[in-house]
Amino acid sequence: MLTLGIETSCDETSVAVVRDGTQVLSNVISSSKKSFERLAGVIPEEAARQQVACMTPVLDAALKEARCTWRDISLIAVTKGPGLLGSLLVGTTSARVLGATWGIPVIGVHHTLGHLSSPWLVPAGQPEAGIRFPVLTLSASGGHTDLWHRTSHLEGRLIARTRDDAAGEAFDKGASMLGLPYPGGPSIAAAAEHGDIHLYDFPMPLHEDATLDFSFSGLKTSLKYLLRDRSDARDDTRNVAASYEHALCLHLCDRLGRALRTHQDIREVHLVGGVSANLHLRTLAADVCRDRRVTLRHPSAIAYCTDNAAMIAAAGFFLRLEQPDAVDAAFRTVAALPLNDTLSQK
Ligand code: KG4
Ligand code: ZN
Repeated sequence: MLTLGIETSCDETSVAVVRDGTQVLSNVISSSKKSFERLAGVIPEEAARQQVACMTPVLDAALKEARCTWRDISLIAVTKGPGLLGSLLVGTTSARVLGATWGIPVIGVHHTLGHLSSPWLVPAGQPEAGIRFPVLTLSASGGHTDLWHRTSHLEGRLIARTRDDAAGEAFDKGASMLGLPYPGGPSIAAAAEHGDIHLYDFPMPLHEDATLDFSFSGLKTSLKYLLRDRSDARDDTRNVAASYEHALCLHLCDRLGRALRTHQDIREVHLVGGVSANLHLRTLAADVCRDRRVTLRHPSAIAYCTDNAAMIAAAGFFLRLEQPDAVDAAFRTVAALPLNDTLSQK
């Protein structure tokens, strides 16, 4: 069964064709990030204008690359929120128009549920991942940083979240302070290559705290003061970037380790969301998982970590399987859409 996924929640226009929620036949992503590189963020109206122009060519390219036509599609899954409202509306309106003209059912998907589904994606022709629940998922992107304890695709509990900034936001704001381009995650990672991760000290957030929550604003403030107070650090981007990246990843992994000690039933740890593209994070998380003898997974391609339509197609497929009444083109498109403490779309 082929699902057409559509994702337009931020600056990207992405359309994908995915077989049975796992096999990616195509995942075309057109991003306007380049236009925003010097701005440390996105201009919403400009992003939406570019998405209107991109939608049809990206859709055509996704069908062509998947070597199929709309007649082969059984379901259209689209991000309904959260995100930039104008951008979301480009995606959801397109999905409704296509669903109505082609006579194909449409399902609205929470963006985060898409990220949570991304470890199931494999390039077409490769064997399935063979994932076993219960899964502990660290979902870290520009908008959220959450830990989920999941017993199936749609059953699970939010066991921790950030109290202030998201991890990706800490990368983006840190990069801006260091004069590095947006998005900050990849540019800090590139600047940090061969840097000394121990040269500058950053405090470990919430170390004495009994919860599993995250906090990134203190690390961001420490970076601000370091650059203000030490002229040697201002000229040492490589080592500052390496130490800052290490501190962010160490905090994420400190909480992962604690969560694994608290929840001994966990069989797999999944890193998802844009920040899961970070190689240093993957290395530190691998140490934590090895110690606890659990499997560590991240999406099988970097393109499945950052925002993409294949993950929305996968989530839509699983959602329809486990909750058939969720298939309904009459969902609301919402900019601020919390995924409840329990993993349910209702
Ligand atoms: O999931 P995503 O593409 O979009 C949101 O849903 O927010 O995540 C984007 C975030 C940005 O903050 C970006 O800086 C971060 O993911 N990111 C990374 C890396 N690649 C992207 N952070 C750390 N290391 C990376 N390699
Ligand atoms: Zn995202």
